Amino acid sequence: MTNFRALPEVTPAQVAALEDLHRHFTLSTDKLHAIVKGFLAGMDRGLAKDGEELAMIPTFVQIRPTGQEKGTYMALDLGGTNLRVCEVTLKGSSQFSILQQKFTIPQHIKQSNARTFFDWIAECVSVFLTDHGRDTSSTTETIPLGFTFSFAVAQTSINRGTLIMWNKGFTAEGVVNRDVVHLLQDALLRKHLRVTVTALVNDTVGALMTSAFQNPSSVMGVIFGTGTNAAYYERLDRIPKWLKSDAAQQNPHHSDEMVINMEWGSFDNSKQVLPLTWFDNSVDRETQNPCMQVFEKMVSGLYLGEVTRKVLLYLIDCQLLFQGQSSTELNQTHSLDTAYMSTIVADETPELLDTQYTLESVLLIPATTLADRHIVKQVCMMLGLRSARLSGAAVASVMSARKDLLEAGICTVGIDGSMYEFYPRFEEYMREAIAEILGQQLTDNIVTTLAKDGSGVGAAIVAMIADKQKALASNNDNPIV
Ligand code: GLC
Repeated sequence: MTNFRALPEVTPAQVAALEDLHRHFTLSTDKLHAIVKGFLAGMDRGLAKDGEELAMIPTFVQIRPTGQEKGTYMALDLGGTNLRVCEVTLKGSSQFSILQQKFTIPQHIKQSNARTFFDWIAECVSVFLTDHGRDTSSTTETIPLGFTFSFAVAQTSINRGTLIMWNKGFTAEGVVNRDVVHLLQDALLRKHLRVTVTALVNDTVGALMTSAFQNPSSVMGVIFGTGTNAAYYERLDRIPKWLKSDAAQQNPHHSDEMVINMEWGSFDNSKQVLPLTWFDNSVDRETQNPCMQVFEKMVSGLYLGEVTRKVLLYLIDCQLLFQGQSSTELNQTHSLDTAYMSTIVADETPELLDTQYTLESVLLIPATTLADRHIVKQVCMMLGLRSARLSGAAVASVMSARKDLLEAGICTVGIDGSMYEFYPRFEEYMREAIAEILGQQLTDNIVTTLAKDGSGVGAAIVAMIADKQKALASNNDNPIV
């Protein structure tokens, strides 16, 4: 355990509180193993039938990109915070270029209704086309578009799917249980835009495709950002619910595998395995979806700052921090952005001046002592470490399920998202946890890499795969292996 006693100016009571928190937030190797066991069982259940905690959604993506793909596609990436409209040019030889425009999704749009929501998206597409001189009114051709929609969607084809539930602060009415491609296509038509939605993609699938376009050994795409989730190539013979489905009868088998969107944020919604603390439960209870996305709420950027904020308020109320004084700012839900935690954890100045700035000038705490700042830094470190280790357990679970691939050689995992990209030492801690679970030798076979712009590029690749799968289906019924 960290020697909290060595921190400058801390009192014995503060040390005791830190030790107590450390006990609650630390994940032992045994606990990691128990989580993997739970994950593997949950994956099997989700692959066997619908409606399970891990949704394990077949994505209809069966082909692996080769990197030689060429073509220009539009892509829309609706993530947790922004909408990005992109034009992606795949140039072959694993090269691509991307032209993109970012729009921050206003809170009132997230909480509006289906029509307002999709009209806003269509308006952003229109702005992009106008700003980049891509006027579609004079042509008869339509532009193909891949739509990355980063929510749980039950797919019924490569460009069809109904929203299972909202999360990450989105609540727009009239979208759940409806086909999001229909809703988007109708909104594009209302604006007379000649754009056809040819692919519907989860952001994890986008990350996997982008990684695979650049590296053929890619087996898994992961997001550690506002939310968290993963997609991976699963063998068809391990997906009983797909084999039994009408969709499987109607769709030619393009290969013996399919990308599965796991929706792993829902792991352990029943709270049987994860070591939830009082703070986690308190955050969960105040969200739009209590007892849902339980794993996501312990790992991802939207919630990490909030759990940390609860811990700080607890220490304040115990008179162990900031002389018992909070601020109006810190009392606000979600005021402690996870990005502030990255700054605090990275602060190596002797007086912790970046931490002081964040606490006093951003969160408006009247005054902090050096001991206060060290305590805050320790809390942030504990929570970041726990998130990275949980992430490692999740990645290790999937790689255990695909041990056949891992034992055969290098498996690349394409990862995107702010936690992975910016949280200090996230990747290192995650890999340490993977090694504790799988052993160093197998862990050395796992290459983790940043799948930057995965959602945009991946959507374009799936739009292209959709064309390929369609052409193959109409040309012959022979499976490609
Ligand atoms: C949430 C969504 C999931 C998405 C993830 C990361 O968990 O349900 O579809 O992949 O966030 O953005």
